[in-house]
Amino acid sequence: MEKKLSSDWWRQAVVYQIYPRSFADANGDGIGDLKGIISKADYLAALGIDAVWLSPFYPSALADGGYDVADYRDVDPRIGNLAEFDEMVEILHSKGIRIFVDVVPNHSSDQHVWFQEALKSEKGSKARERYIFRDGRGENGELPPSNLSSHFGPEGWTQVADGQWYMHLFTKEQPDFNWDNPEVHEDFLKTLKFWSDRGVDGYRIDVAHALTKNLDPLPDRDSYDLNVMKDDGTDPLFDRDSVHEIYKEWRALFNQYDPPRVAVAEAWVHPHRRPAYASIEGLGQAFNFDLLTARWDAEVFQEVVDRNLEFANTTGSSTTWVMSNHDVIRHATRMVIPAGADGVTFADENKWYVENRLNHNLDLDLGLARAKAATLMILALPGSTYLYQGEELGLPDVLDIPSDQMQDPQWFRGEGKLKSRDGCRVPLPWEKQGSSFGFGPGGSHLPQPGWYGEYSVEVQDNDENSTLNLYRRAINLRKELEGPEDLSWLESPAGTLAFERPGNWICFVNFGSESQVLPEGKLLIASAPVEGGKLPGNSTAWLIR
Ligand code: GLC
Ligand code: CA
Repeated sequence: MEKKLSSDWWRQAVVYQIYPRSFADANGDGIGDLKGIISKADYLAALGIDAVWLSPFYPSALADGGYDVADYRDVDPRIGNLAEFDEMVEILHSKGIRIFVDVVPNHSSDQHVWFQEALKSEKGSKARERYIFRDGRGENGELPPSNLSSHFGPEGWTQVADGQWYMHLFTKEQPDFNWDNPEVHEDFLKTLKFWSDRGVDGYRIDVAHALTKNLDPLPDRDSYDLNVMKDDGTDPLFDRDSVHEIYKEWRALFNQYDPPRVAVAEAWVHPHRRPAYASIEGLGQAFNFDLLTARWDAEVFQEVVDRNLEFANTTGSSTTWVMSNHDVIRHATRMVIPAGADGVTFADENKWYVENRLNHNLDLDLGLARAKAATLMILALPGSTYLYQGEELGLPDVLDIPSDQMQDPQWFRGEGKLKSRDGCRVPLPWEKQGSSFGFGPGGSHLPQPGWYGEYSVEVQDNDENSTLNLYRRAINLRKELEGPEDLSWLESPAGTLAFERPGNWICFVNFGSESQVLPEGKLLIASAPVEGGKLPGNSTAWLIR
């Protein structure tokens, strides 16, 4: 019997992100699929997670890993079909696992029927009004309407056959919608209703801060660095106050369901602008990505925790914690990339990747130790935790994928300056040996390295000290310990952090390299072996007193 859910089940949920093409492949065509996810339902249940979030599985020409959606209300036939989707929902629900799906509202694929219709229609037609078409500059309109670059490369406008141009903040296969058009609003409400009616419990909203734009005058932009974005709601392209009107409409729909559907915003905005996305009248939660760039340092981590708990307080939402996802270098690798004074900013990371990926000397044992310590810390924090598939295996990023086998448009369009995100999207190793290390009976759409089998589920399953079993124990233990979202800091030696949660649950994190004496209490779990009451460097322990 399924448990009736309370309406705040999401507040301290552990959500596991599945990148469907790379999770498990049931039919052996090298592409992960819904049947593959179904076949791993017991694995997911044993992890103890509360929900999965599926990155896009919709029909797509894969110009951007599926974030170019050709049909928002269907399943890519290479991944499955709607009947299999329903089956997946039923099976996961029966195991107490909720389902989030990804919604991509800033842009569609250029294969979407609307965009195809727009291409065939005249200038100024209704079909063109669903996207952002403009005439070019120059004598014959041969120059783009403004000097706009995209996130992934130089051109933010692309010309079509009759000479007009359309705007795209990402690849040219991802035309931006015109959110001034009521039809766009209606269609997204239809999509959200479609999936909610099928039992989807929550939504992850892609680039939630883009959508509404001020196009008069047409903006120029050559950098997407946060420093360039205005932080007062008046930037022409991002984080405009008006975007929240859309989320109010969505909230009204979500609240028609029991329990209300939930949502989390992916919004790369100035930190103090984040709470608006998490407001209860809006999406309800927003990703806190601060730890993706934080240096492994007690003071830095403490500051991030304090700031985000305060944000959560101002909105009545709960905060979120993220160490890895499908867009960043896996944290077991990232945490030993040389850091600058501000941590490993994305600029540092891109530079390091481009120069060193094929010839690096990273200490991956240290990386894994820190990764486990960081995860054990965030699992002890109030709020919800988002985990990314494969981090429970301690997978490092695959840095040496040959360039001609890469898929990420950022790599090809980034003019040699941006990292490829393929290294965190390599299909998972389920078995030590065999075809695609148990990913499926066939191959793998991205090449897997020879060392992958050592990290496989098969190898780690029965090893009590494996990363996988640490995750399983920690997530299940967290459920038992979970109480109100309060935290108090305890005094602890320099280079360490200690905090207490209700119920005398203590988390102690040793950021330094020397062992440290643990606080008093009964040891519950540790990310590294405790000897003589001392916790090794770069590790975390939970205690109860
Ligand atoms: C988000 C996604 C990323 C995608 C981009 C464009 O940032 O996480 O993978 O490339 O949006 O949709
Ligand atoms: Ca398949």
